[in-house]
Amino acid sequence: MHISNRLLKARVTEELRERQIKAEERPAFHLSPRTGWMNDPNGFSFYKGKYHLFYQYNPYDTNWGPMHWGHAVSEDLIRWKYLPCALAPDSFLDKEGGCFSGGAVELDDGRHLLMYTGTRRERQPDGTTCDVQTQCLAIGDGIDYEKYEKNPVISELDLPEGGSRIDFRDPKIWKCDDGSFRCIIANRAADKTGQLLLYRSRDAFEWEYESTLLENHGEYGIMWECPDLFSLDGSDVILMSPQDMQPTDDGFAPGNDGLCMIGECDGQGHFRKKSVSPIDYGLDFYATQSILSPDGRRIMLGWMQDWDGVPYRKENMAWFGQVTLPRELRVKNGRLIQTPIREIERYRGKKCEINEPKVSGDKPLVLDQLSGRTSDITVVIRPEDTCTKAELRFAEGGGHYASVTLRPKERSITLDRSHTGVRRNVSHTITTGYTTEDGSVTIRLILDRYSAEIFLGDGEKVMSMTYYSAEDEDGISVRAEGGASVTVEGYRLELS
Ligand code: FRU
Repeated sequence: MHISNRLLKARVTEELRERQIKAEERPAFHLSPRTGWMNDPNGFSFYKGKYHLFYQYNPYDTNWGPMHWGHAVSEDLIRWKYLPCALAPDSFLDKEGGCFSGGAVELDDGRHLLMYTGTRRERQPDGTTCDVQTQCLAIGDGIDYEKYEKNPVISELDLPEGGSRIDFRDPKIWKCDDGSFRCIIANRAADKTGQLLLYRSRDAFEWEYESTLLENHGEYGIMWECPDLFSLDGSDVILMSPQDMQPTDDGFAPGNDGLCMIGECDGQGHFRKKSVSPIDYGLDFYATQSILSPDGRRIMLGWMQDWDGVPYRKENMAWFGQVTLPRELRVKNGRLIQTPIREIERYRGKKCEINEPKVSGDKPLVLDQLSGRTSDITVVIRPEDTCTKAELRFAEGGGHYASVTLRPKERSITLDRSHTGVRRNVSHTITTGYTTEDGSVTIRLILDRYSAEIFLGDGEKVMSMTYYSAEDEDGISVRAEGGASVTVEGYRLELS
């Protein structure tokens, strides 16, 4: 297999630089880049007995740059092992723009196929340049991948009328029950806002346009990125990431968001939506990938980062960007339900249970036995009628903390990292509503050194955020102005 100089250089660089990062300086079970920068997860697939995950990767810097595909494998989606960089921008179709996001499938003959967007810089007659996007393939054995000699396999020639060749990216490929292949690609329509296109192929190499699954018409942000389509529990589900959203009453924050649509695909390849919601109600979430696991679970993960929040980080980090914990998805009563991947439970240490009938503002409950930065803790808070605010603090120490705050009167929950020592004014708090019959709230908190993911109730809402405070700031406590009873079941996660 031919390995280009550019790929070789990336592989040598990552190997040398990875050694300079101590294991405890990066997340313990959330995948982070081997070195440098990571954005979207790519090519999430199960191949030769292992989960493969690729990612948008710049091994030379902790900021976005020439896009490569980094690569890692896992047997249980918790412990990841790095493999050599899989793709470098080394061909005519991607060398100036990069190898952008895409998916992966196993072919019938046992080869692993990556489908990605090649971004090519095209010089215009007036001297300016524009980036043209085409869909390309690379075929490999789980370690080395060779770009297909007939790339691109989908280009501007395959666009419906008015579709942009500049914004045409992020193919998600899957195999259908009849052995044929489909992919869904994000595109910008003639009205300059997003649309999702479906393509079909008998062999994954020759593609034809099938239909325009869905058009945005400016309703949800502008361009759409990273689409996904699957059936789950009797519904059809689209996940995607709209750019440039304006805030909405149903929970979308301004900027780039993950969006879930639940509805139905008709026989003509068009989608009828029944409900729309954010995928994650926290501060850091974008660009999802999902797969069907061998045991039939729909598992999804995303980039645990907000594009606008990129400047918020620790000084002198040798890596930047991380993937969320994989989540098991269900659709219940027309809503998306997410729960932490069950494999995380294998890493639980000793169980700690606490039942404290009266927590108050001047009598916080300090969870000494659970202090630490990698934990799985479920807290049930039952506010008394007089309770105005109940707060679960974590990463606490040296005057700093991050928190989830419940305001029972407003039925609101706020995720907050503004007291983690931040000195930059990007968004550090976000609030969402909750409903429960008896006023109690169940919060499952998953901590991994530089992040918190909060699953509310049975997983009807998830809130994720990153924070970069000192690792020895690791206290956990609950307080309640006006009184609440609190039950805790928690575990430290042991991954070393
Ligand atoms: C989303 C995205 C994708 C693109 C990739 C480039 O975060 O903008 O649409 O393929 O990042 O790195």
